Order: sequence, then structure tokens, then C-alpha cells
Amino acid sequence: MENLDEKILQAKTLEELEKVRVELFGKKGFLSLEFAKMKTIPASEKKAFAEGLNNTKERLQTLFDTRYELLKKEEIELILQSEAIDVSLYESRGEKGALHPVMDTMDKIIDYFVALNFSVESGPMVEDDFHNFEALNLPKHHPARDMQDTFYFKDGGLLRTHTSPVQIRTMMQTKPPIRMIAPGSVFRRDYDLTHTPMFHQVEGLVVEEKGKVSFANLKAILVDFLHYMFGDVEVRFRPSFFPFTEPSAEVDISCIFCGGDGCRVCSHTGWLEVLGCGIVDPNVFKAVGYENVSGYAFGLGVERFAMLIHRIPDLRTLFEGDIRLLEQFR
Ligand code: FA5
Ligand code: MG
Repeated sequence: MENLDEKILQAKTLEELEKVRVELFGKKGFLSLEFAKMKTIPASEKKAFAEGLNNTKERLQTLFDTRYELLKKEEIELILQSEAIDVSLYESRGEKGALHPVMDTMDKIIDYFVALNFSVESGPMVEDDFHNFEALNLPKHHPARDMQDTFYFKDGGLLRTHTSPVQIRTMMQTKPPIRMIAPGSVFRRDYDLTHTPMFHQVEGLVVEEKGKVSFANLKAILVDFLHYMFGDVEVRFRPSFFPFTEPSAEVDISCIFCGGDGCRVCSHTGWLEVLGCGIVDPNVFKAVGYENVSGYAFGLGVERFAMLIHRIPDLRTLFEGDIRLLEQFR
């Protein structure tokens, strides 16, 4: 019996212990063979024999179970050790990426309006004349169409020149009230220091029951927004013209390069134009079938904002993919 106990205690792995288990508890193992002897043992000795054997079985079983638990634990420890990952072992490999400054600026703009419960809408980049112009109070042959040099397709389709068609699409799909922004890329036949053929705008539109929104609301939200974007700047509203708003204004901030004293960037005016806005023209509401509403709208160029925030002198460099520029935005 002693050497049976030893067998269990000497098993060093679960595998070895399994062999011992077969040897002791298996169908042809030690215990089975011992119990089989019962048949041949005289009746008078049977009871004592069985009792002894059962005690042995119990002892071996307890010994086995304990050994099993121990080896199992050791094995798990071994697995844990071999699969352990040393997170402190950092190897710097490759370069760290970052959002493009235009997208980063776009995100910042979107965050502001989402926090004020504006929904974020989108529309197609390939537009038709109705959504890009006509419904925005720009009938065919209207001279204001020349304000935006348009890329046309042969079939009469066009690349949207601004995000304003998303206003039209949203109004035609939903009932007022509306509180939305539409960020996206737009296209114009433009190319110089401050203009590229593709750029990004964020459109804003608020429509309420007639009389519930005014120019004062528009002004308040835009002044707050511009302070959020540019910090402590002066903001001024300058009368302007857009076919889809009346009255209309362009909004300037005091030049963030010279603080308003006048420099090359602000053409020595002390001011920088940053967005267009106004009270939605009744003709726009007519085009989408809205009645008894009033609203305001605004539109801004994201590259223009990014240029000012990061002091980039030539807008075109934003699209050249020059790693020396992009590296500065990590
Ligand atoms: C518009 O596009 C109007 N849809 C904005 C608007 C919306 C006004 C709603 C009123 C109500 P504008 O053509 O001025 O307006 O363009 C807006 C801004 O886009 C400009 O201030 C400028 O920052 C930017 N922008 C215009 N053309 C380019 C260009 N080629 N490259 C980069 N930015 C441009
Ligand atoms: Mg303009």
C-alpha cells in the first residue's frame, strides 16, 4: 500500500498523474482487481476484506484529489507565466498619426453645435440645379450665380458649390422646427492663396414658428461660437448680400495676427472675414413648401478657420500632403 501512496505523490505532472489514475482506479486497475477477489474469498472474511479495501480506496482517492488540485494549480501558473505580456516593455515602432488640421477644425466646430442640440445632416456632393441654386432663390440667369464658379457635368448636374443645398434637402424631408448643421466638402473653380477647388463648409440652419427667431438670436450664437473658436476676439457684423438670406451679413473677427492694428494678412484693415449669415429669405421657404416660419442660416469655410487657428499663410499647403507641414499637427 505504501508504494501506491508514493506513486500518487511522485507524479510530477497531470500527465503522470493520469497514468497513476488508470493504474489505481481504472477498469483493470488495482482497485478493480482487488474488489474482484471478493468472489473467491470465504464468506466469513468478506466483510473485513471489503471494509479494508474501501478504506484504502477512500485514502487513495483523497490523496489523488489533493495531488490533482496541486498539479492543476501548478499547470495554470505555468501557462500564466508563459503567456504573460510585459506591458512595460515598450518598443517604439513606426510614426504616430494625427487628424488632418482641416478635419480637426471641423470636429471642433461640430462639437460646438452638437452641444447646442443641432443635428448633423449631410447631402450629395453631386447636386442638381434645383437644390444648389434655384430653391435657394437663385433663378437661372440670376447674376448672383457668378459669385460661385461652378463645375458642371455634361448632363446638367454639378458639384455643389456650397453646403446650402443640404438646407433644402433637410427642409423637404422634415417638418419644422429645424436645428441643423451640415458639414461637408464643396467645389468651386478657384485657385489662389486663400482658395482651392475643393474645400469644406459647415452650414447652419434654424427654423422656428414665425416670429420665434430673430437676427438677435443669430448674432448671439455666432458671437459665442467665434469666441469658442478664436478666444478673445472682437466680432462685427457687416451688411452683405446672399440670395437666400435677407437681411444678410458677413461676419469679421479682429485680426488674430496683429490684434486689429492692421497687417498683411488682414490687408491692413484689422479685420478678417470668417462667415456669411442672415435671416432665411421667404422665397426659400416657399420653394420647400414651409409656411408661417422664420429662421436664420449661416455658412463658413473650414479651411479659413484652420488657417487662422494654425496661422497657415497659404491655404493650398493644406492639400499638398507635405509631411513637413502635417508633422506639425501631431
Ligand atoms: C456661401 O457659400 C454661402 N452658402 C454661405 C451662407 C450660408 C451664407 C447660409 C448665408 C447663409 P461664400 O461663397 O461666401 O458663402 O462661402 C463661405 C466661405 O467659404 C467663405 O467665407 C470662405 O471662407 C470659404 N470659401 C469660399 N470659397 C473658397 C475656396 N475656393 N477655398 C476655400 N474656402 C473658400
Ligand atoms: Mg464670401
